[in-house]
Amino acid sequence: MQDSHTQILNSLSNRDNLTKLDTLGMMDLVLGFPKQCRDGAAISWQYGHGSTAQTDIRNVVYTGLGGSAIGGDLLRCLADEYGSIPIIVNRDYTLPAWVGPSTLLLAASYSGNTEETLAATTAGLKAEAQIAMVTSGGTLAKIGAAEGCPVAIVPGGQPPRTATGYLFFPALTYLQHRHFLRKDFQEDSEETFLVLEKMAKEYGPDVPVEQNPAKQLAIQLFGKIPVLYGSQGYRGVAAYRWKCQFNENTKIAAFSNVLPEQNHNEILAWVLGEKQASNWSAIFLRDPKEEELQPRIATRVAVTKELVSRTTPVHEIFAQGESLLARLLSIIYMADFVTVYLAYLYGICPTDIGYIDHLKEALAKEVSK
Ligand code: PA5
Repeated sequence: MQDSHTQILNSLSNRDNLTKLDTLGMMDLVLGFPKQCRDGAAISWQYGHGSTAQTDIRNVVYTGLGGSAIGGDLLRCLADEYGSIPIIVNRDYTLPAWVGPSTLLLAASYSGNTEETLAATTAGLKAEAQIAMVTSGGTLAKIGAAEGCPVAIVPGGQPPRTATGYLFFPALTYLQHRHFLRKDFQEDSEETFLVLEKMAKEYGPDVPVEQNPAKQLAIQLFGKIPVLYGSQGYRGVAAYRWKCQFNENTKIAAFSNVLPEQNHNEILAWVLGEKQASNWSAIFLRDPKEEELQPRIATRVAVTKELVSRTTPVHEIFAQGESLLARLLSIIYMADFVTVYLAYLYGICPTDIGYIDHLKEALAKEVSK
């Protein structure tokens, strides 16, 4: 099996073979991600009235779903480290009761038509929150224009989960513009783009399995349910992104959790490992400086790995780069390659999201009745 999988993934250097497995062009979007991040950072905002005033904003709520919500998760990680006010990510129709005039509501929907995001935006307007938006158009952009909200219009026409650079970087620029982050990210952004460009070269379809860690991991995960463990903080956000990419690109179940919390409950799920975990595979997402900067976490990871490895193979992925921004983006970028290669091995189209479309259509029909 491994040999035939190696052959399949090594055949991808031939463009025709790649196109046969990837009829809707997911790999091109994955390879284009570093440039998309550069482009995303250069997108200009269409500022509405009063948008730059440093009024008494006390909190930021980023509202969005699925592929559009991940941009908020990334922002929250940066705000946890460098923010002057708290940021939370909201994935629902409703907003917390405390949202009001002192809230900046960042509404993000790639399509601009996601009903939960539209409902939360309407709730934000009602609560008199200040609202800014990131979208490629749709109803959200229309609401933005009608209400005079600052809006970043990003290029449309691709799956939202491949548009993280377009969704995240303009939101980052906006928070900087409003002075809600105590750091200038220009240098870190440049480092991030270079790290991502290097990764695209190292993990791309032309690089054979023998030199390609992303292809190797995809082969090892065939037939397994990936269980992602972030070692702490932003690696927990990355673990959730990996899980979602396995769900959407590969169409398989995957689960995620983060340390130290995992050590207080889920670690026991491995006790009956032999009975239930024979097809699980654990992936630890780690920071290269953990040993030095977070020795307690490094010890926790070592002990957890040992317990988990009693029943299942354990893999480790390390973030790359120096800045938090580069480490954050690099650790999620690896997931794009692994989940798409694994989709090829299953003979699944990585782009197709039939069940999500089906659900949205069923909900739309219900409204139009
Ligand atoms: O990946 C996807 O297609 C979904 O997770 C969408 O991002 C989600 O349904 C929300 O849609 P949108 O991103 O257009 O707001």
